Amino acid sequence: MSHSFAGNSGATIEDLKNQINIVDVVGRVVPLKRAGANYKGVCPFHNEKTPSFVVSEQKQIFTCFGCGASGDAIEFTKRYYNLDFTEAVEKLAKEHGIEIKIGGGGNQEREKYYEVNREAARFFYRAFTEGKNQGYSYMKKRGIEDSILKKFGIGYADDSWDSLYRYFKSKGVDEKVLLELGLISEKNGKYYDKFRNRVIFPIINTSGKVIGFGGRAIGDAMPKYLNSPENRIFQKKNNIYALNLSKQDVGKEGYAILVEGYMDVISLYQHGVRNVGASLGTALTENQARLLKRYTRNVVLSYDADTAGQNAALRGIDVLGAEDLKVKVLHVTDGKDPDEFIKKNGREAFRKLVDGALPMTDYKLNAARKGLNLDTDDGKIDYMKRAADILKSLSPVEADIYIKKLSHELKIAEGAIKLEISGNNNTGIVRQLRRRQEDNEGRKELSGMEATVLKVLMINPCFAEKLIEYDGIIESELGRKIVNLMFEFYGLRGGFEPSDITDSLDPMESQAFTDATDAVIIAGNEEQVFDECIRTWRLNKAVKREQELIDMLALADEETGSDSIKGLTEELMNVQREINSFGGRK
Ligand code: CTP
Ligand code: MN
Repeated sequence: MSHSFAGNSGATIEDLKNQINIVDVVGRVVPLKRAGANYKGVCPFHNEKTPSFVVSEQKQIFTCFGCGASGDAIEFTKRYYNLDFTEAVEKLAKEHGIEIKIGGGGNQEREKYYEVNREAARFFYRAFTEGKNQGYSYMKKRGIEDSILKKFGIGYADDSWDSLYRYFKSKGVDEKVLLELGLISEKNGKYYDKFRNRVIFPIINTSGKVIGFGGRAIGDAMPKYLNSPENRIFQKKNNIYALNLSKQDVGKEGYAILVEGYMDVISLYQHGVRNVGASLGTALTENQARLLKRYTRNVVLSYDADTAGQNAALRGIDVLGAEDLKVKVLHVTDGKDPDEFIKKNGREAFRKLVDGALPMTDYKLNAARKGLNLDTDDGKIDYMKRAADILKSLSPVEADIYIKKLSHELKIAEGAIKLEISGNNNTGIVRQLRRRQEDNEGRKELSGMEATVLKVLMINPCFAEKLIEYDGIIESELGRKIVNLMFEFYGLRGGFEPSDITDSLDPMESQAFTDATDAVIIAGNEEQVFDECIRTWRLNKAVKREQELIDMLALADEETGSDSIKGLTEELMNVQREINSFGGRK
C-alpha cells in the first residue's frame, strides 16, 4: 500500500490500528452479540435477517459469511461510511483522539488537487460571467436562468487552447497536477487546455469539494460531453452529480429523483424539483447506491425515454435494490428526457409522473411481459418463468401481493405460481420456504417419500390441489422440477398425462423419475397414502424445528430479552406438543 502516513512525530496506521478495537468501531453502528470468542450481528453490507456477520476481537477483523465482506476496522469504516482510505483513517483517528501525522502522500497532497480544481472552476466561472461568450449564450438559449447558472457554478472554457494552462503557469502550479486532473494534455512537449469552447459543469462532492468537470460542446460538436478522467480525487463511480446541492431537499422530500444527465438535473432544479441528482451517464454503482442511502431510502429513477435509458433503469433497480433502497421508475411521456418534459409541461405535470411512477417490481414485470402473447399457453408459461425469477428475491409479504396479482391476471392458481418461484432458487420468500431444507438442495434423485407423493399425483392429478398447501414436501431439485411441470399442466388444463411430464424432462431425469415412481407400490387408497406422507413430513419438520429452538435457547443470554426467550419457549412447547400428537418421534 502506498499511503504514507508515517510522519516524524504522529502515529502511524499501525499505531492507529493498535489503539482501536474493531468491536467498538463496528458495535457503534451494528448491534453485536457475543458468540463464543467472537461477536455476531446482522450484516450491514447486504440484506439479511439471520446474523452471519462475525467480528473477531482477537484477530481484529470482520467477516460476513453471507456476502463475503471482510476486512479490518479501516476497511469497515471505508465501506460503511462510503469513504476512501484516507478519509476512513482520518475519521477513526479523530474519533479516538489520535493524531495522525501525514507524510508526503495522503491528505495534503489531495488538498492541493482539490484546490487546483476549485481554482479552475473559478476561472471557468469568470469566463462565463464576465463578458460575452458562446457558453453563456448557449445556456440562455436552453432557457436556464442566471440564478440557476450561478447556483450550479456553470462556467465556460474558451477556445484559445492554452488560457487555463497559462493562468496556472503564472501561479506556479505544477504541470503534473494539471495533467493528472485532466485540465491539460501534452503533445510534443507542449501543453494544451483539455476543455475548449465548452460549457463547464463543475462536479462537486457532498463535502463541497470540486472533484471534476463535465464539459458540454456548444451545439453539435463532438464529443457532446468531455469529462475529467478518473484520478486520485475523482471517481465517477463514487459520486452523484448535484447531490451537494440537493441532499437537504432529498431528506425533506423523503426521496431522491435520479436522472441521467447534467442538463436534466439543472432543468428540474430550475422548475422547482430540487431533490434530484444524476449518475453521470454511467451505469449506477453499488457505491452510488450507498451514498444515496445516507440521505434517503427511496429513489425514483427518471431516465431517458429511449431503450438505452429504460435498460439502464432495469439495471439501476438491481443495484439500488441490492442496497435495500426502495425504487420506483418514472417514464417520461413527452420528450426524450426529463429536461424536455418539464420544459414543455411544467412542474405539476412532472409531479404527476412522479406520483404515477411504477414500483420496481411492477416495472420489471412489465418489461418481462414485452413481446409475449399472454393469450397463449406458451406465452403464459414463459411469462410465469420470468415473473418467478423476479419475485423470488422479494420478501414473503411482497411476493404474496404480486402472486395474487399474477394469479388473477393469468388465471393460474396461486399455489402453482408459488411452486414456480420456489423451484429454482433460495433467496427472499424462497429462503423462507426452504430454509430448513437446505441440505436437500440440488439433490438430483427423488427420496422415497417424494416418489410416493409424485406417484399419487400421477394416479390422480386432483391431489395437486392438496399439495399446494404442503408445497415444501418436495425438496429435491428434480422433484421440484417435476412438481412445477405438473402444476403448469394442471393450472392450464386441469390435468396431465405421464407422457406430458416425461417428455418435458431430459432423458436422465425422465429415467430417474420413471424408476422411482415404478418402485412405489400404492397399498391402500391414494388419499390415505398421501396423508401418511404429509404426516411424516410434518413430523420431520417439527423435530428439526425443535432442535433449532433448543439451540437458540442455549445461545440466548441476558441480552436476548425475556420477551423473545418467552416466545422461543412457547414455540418449543407447541412444537413438542405437535410431535406428541403425531405419536412421538420415530
Ligand atoms: N455523457 C457523457 N459523455 C457523452 C454523452 C453523455 O459523459 N459523450 C453523460 C453526461 O453526464 C450526460 C449524460 O451522460 O449528461 C446523459 O447524456 P445525454 O442524455 O446525451 O445528455 P443530456 O444530459 O441530456 O444533455 P443535453 O440535453 O445537453 O443533450
Ligand atoms: Mn437532454
